Parts: sequence; structure tokens; C-alpha cells
Amino acid sequence: MLKGRNLIDPMDFTLEELEEIFKLADQIISNPEDFTHICQGKLLATLFYEPSTRTRFSFEAAMIRLGGQVIGFSEPNSSSVSKGESVADTIRTVGCYADIVAMRHPKEGAPKVAAINSPIPVINAGDGGHQHPTQTLTDLLTIKSIKGRLSNLKIGLCGDLKFGRTVHSLIKAISRYQNNKFVLIAPKELKVPEYIIKELNKNNIEYKEVEKLEDVIGDLDILYMTRVQKERFFNEEDYIRLKDSYILDEAKMSIASEDMIVLHPLPRVNEIAYEVDDDPRACYFKQAKYGMYVRMALIAKLLGVR
Ligand code: CP
Repeated sequence: MLKGRNLIDPMDFTLEELEEIFKLADQIISNPEDFTHICQGKLLATLFYEPSTRTRFSFEAAMIRLGGQVIGFSEPNSSSVSKGESVADTIRTVGCYADIVAMRHPKEGAPKVAAINSPIPVINAGDGGHQHPTQTLTDLLTIKSIKGRLSNLKIGLCGDLKFGRTVHSLIKAISRYQNNKFVLIAPKELKVPEYIIKELNKNNIEYKEVEKLEDVIGDLDILYMTRVQKERFFNEEDYIRLKDSYILDEAKMSIASEDMIVLHPLPRVNEIAYEVDDDPRACYFKQAKYGMYVRMALIAKLLGVR
């Protein structure tokens, strides 16, 4: 039963519950006209303490396409946050007006604090360098729809694996499906955090850590590129040194298999050359669209209207 639940961590839902969401997303994709009024009279609040294009707009588009309405802020200084109001008090107040909340916050754990204090369901729309569970729903639906499966995949994750919260959430979530293997491609300064490696070891998940994309791209079913997260660096010099560690271009794509797909949570900076966009294996804008459909399904399930 998903009605009334929060989504803070990608592991909050069982595989069966995830399947329910994907099934509903598929129904919405096939027959969107059947869902245009199911959230009539419901209100989504989007509380974004950090910038966003895809997550905020796809949440808002999702709610509007379901017949509901949206309130919120994308600039916390336009709210009483600028006067020092806490996350707990903000959520208690917003919970008096809205039916469901999507919150992005630069501090790890802030959406969890919100959920503890909230009278309405809270969805973590990204907390610092920690987790981004609705991006993971997006990634899983994209992979399932395009590759036809969520198991038996060799998944390369490339770029900023230290600060990239989408990577942390995806590894946790897709490790639960059978026989997936990871190739973690990062410079040594941006390797996956130790707590994720410990989880992989504990669960006997096969992985290897490498530095060169060219050495492994030919073996992958999925290449998940990520941006170097400038906003999480303490030191500008380190960012400048590391920001162009990987640039996926036509030459590297020519080594990859014909059915490898390229995903990226976006935004991209330099890590995928624009020339790759026309390659049929480049699926990152399709992925952004799946993000709206999966958020439609998630909202409907948490509100209990489906
Ligand atoms: N993928 C993602 O979270 O993008 P935004 O930062 O634009 O929301």
C-alpha cells in the first residue's frame, strides 16, 4: 500500500511496490487521457531550496497533467526560510495547505527531517550529495522500457561518483535486481563513497573500479554519464582540474556495442559532446520524459487516487 507514504530513500519501496509504480506509468504513457482528472482538487507543493530544471518542472507538469494544482518556491529566499524558519516548521505549515510535497535541499537528510514532521507525504527530490530517489525511479523506468529488463545488465557509471547523488541512489536500487554488474569509472578523487562499496561487498555484487572509459566502454549495456558536481566542491582549483575528466564523443561511441544505451540525469556540462545527441543510443532526453511519467505514477500512488 503506497497511499500516504514518504519517498526519502530509493530503498523505501519494495520491488513489488516499484513494479506497481512502473505499471501505472506504462498505463499513463499508453492512455494519458484516462488520467487527466484523477488529481482534481489536490495540491502539490514543490519546496526547492536548490536549483532544478527537470525535477521541479517534471513534478509540476506531472501534477498539472493529472488535473491537480501546484504551489511552492524555487528560490527559498522568497519564503520565510530567509527569516530563519526551520525545515520542520516550514513543512508543518505547508502541510496545512497542500496534499503532497516534493522537497529538494542542499543538506543531506533535510527531506527526512521534513517527513518526520509532516502531516502529508514527502518526496525527496534530491538531498545534497546523498540521494535522489525519483531520479532513480526515472532511470529504472527508462532502462526497463528501452532494454526490456532490470536484471542481467553491465552498467558503467562514469564521472563524479563521489558527489553524484543520482549514482548513489541508482547503485542501491538496481543492485536489488539479479545479476547486475557495475563498472565504476572515475578519477581517484571522485570515486564512489566507501559506504556504497561496503554495501556492494556485503551483498556480493560484482563491480570493478577503473579510471579509463575507453578501456571498458565496449563491454557495457548501459553507460550512465554524470556531471562533475561543481557546487559540492570545497576548492575551485580541484573542480577545474577534474571537470573535463571524461568527454563522451563519437570516437568513444564507435567502440561501444550497437545496443549500449547512454543515460545521463542531466544537466550536462562538457561530459557528452553534442555530436553524440544524434546517435540512436543517446537516450538522455527520452529519460527526462520518462521522469515526468514516473512522477505522475508516484503522485497518484502516494495520494491513493490509483
Ligand atoms: N536530473 C536532475 O535532478 O536535474 P535537475 O537538477 O535539473 O532537476
